[in-house]
Amino acid sequence: MTITVGIAGITGKFARELASILLKYPDIKIKGYCRDPSKVPEPLSSKVELSKGDAFDTSAVRSFVAGCDVVVCCYLGDGKLMADGQKALVDACAAEGVPRYVASDWTLDYTKLKLGDLFPKDPMIHVKAYLDAQDKVKGVHILVGMFMEVFFNPVFGTWDADSATLKYWGTGNEIWEATTYRNAAEYTAAVCADKNAVGIKKFVGGRATIREIAESFEKVYGVKPKLENHGSLDDLFRHMHSLREKDPQNVFSYMFLFYQYYMTNGQAHLGPECDNDQYPQVKPVNWEDYLRSVPKDQLLSAHSNVGKST
Ligand SMILES: NC(=O)c1ccc[n+]([C@@H]2O[C@H](COP(=O)([O-])OP(=O)(O)OC[C@H]3O[C@@H](n4cnc5c(N)ncnc54)[C@H](OP(=O)(O)O)[C@@H]3O)[C@@H](O)[C@H]2O)c1
Repeated sequence: MTITVGIAGITGKFARELASILLKYPDIKIKGYCRDPSKVPEPLSSKVELSKGDAFDTSAVRSFVAGCDVVVCCYLGDGKLMADGQKALVDACAAEGVPRYVASDWTLDYTKLKLGDLFPKDPMIHVKAYLDAQDKVKGVHILVGMFMEVFFNPVFGTWDADSATLKYWGTGNEIWEATTYRNAAEYTAAVCADKNAVGIKKFVGGRATIREIAESFEKVYGVKPKLENHGSLDDLFRHMHSLREKDPQNVFSYMFLFYQYYMTNGQAHLGPECDNDQYPQVKPVNWEDYLRSVPKDQLLSAHSNVGKST
């Protein structure tokens, strides 16, 4: 029987990876929703049923979800979009009898955090509570740690390509749990195809300390990166909060430091138990596998190129 998967935010990076994988499933049909369908490139655009609308256009959202067996939200934006935009999709799913909703998560285990700890994840806490209270729509939350592509994105603050330096806070023995976009999309596609998959699903490509990432880097590229310590995790905590207090509007000056803190302090780690084995056809791509798949001079641009080959 055909399964219809609705992808909200189909112009995005993760959405396009997901759509390209779902197209390989014989019995899956895709509906896509976005603000500007002309941004969906060929051949994807001719293989999915696209509809146009804003996240808060109730009637357009409702007609998009109608007939779907599962809706996957791939939005990424401000708090209003991530909380109220997602609630609008959940309401539409309830009204149209869509039984499953995959929340726009793909992150650390925010269920272990309090509201206000890692502020960009507060909307996800609200959306999970909203889904938990639904009778008709079951929520699905796919947790993958961080995306490896983001770790090497200059804005994140861990990798300086010019000086080949890995920068870190803490002892250097903290674990980074991470997954590639593609690998997370493969797992998400398997979840979409499994009508019984609901609730929290944890999938992690690889776990490694910054020292182990440096060793893999040297093994793969033949270059030993420098390791630069910026202080303890307590120092990081004080630093990120002081930047926020000084200039709260300048979110990008401190947001990635908050991510670095909660990614590595262990509080929101996925493990030790994960659901990797649930779909054995999805092979985890670990840190070293990832580095082998990307030429060194493309590590910086790998994040912005996600979804472009689809
Ligand atoms: N764990 C990690 O390290 C990590 C890192 C990055 C992302 N993520 C997660 O991955 C998921 C997808 O992220 P991504 O990197 O694929 O994001 P992305 O490439 O920036 O795509 C975001 C999508 O949201 C849409 N969007 C933004 N603002 C909107 C609005 N006001 N109304 C309607 N649509 C709007 C965009 O549409 P337009 O094309 O019209 O702008 C686009 O389709 C999110 O859940 C995000 O939290 C996790």
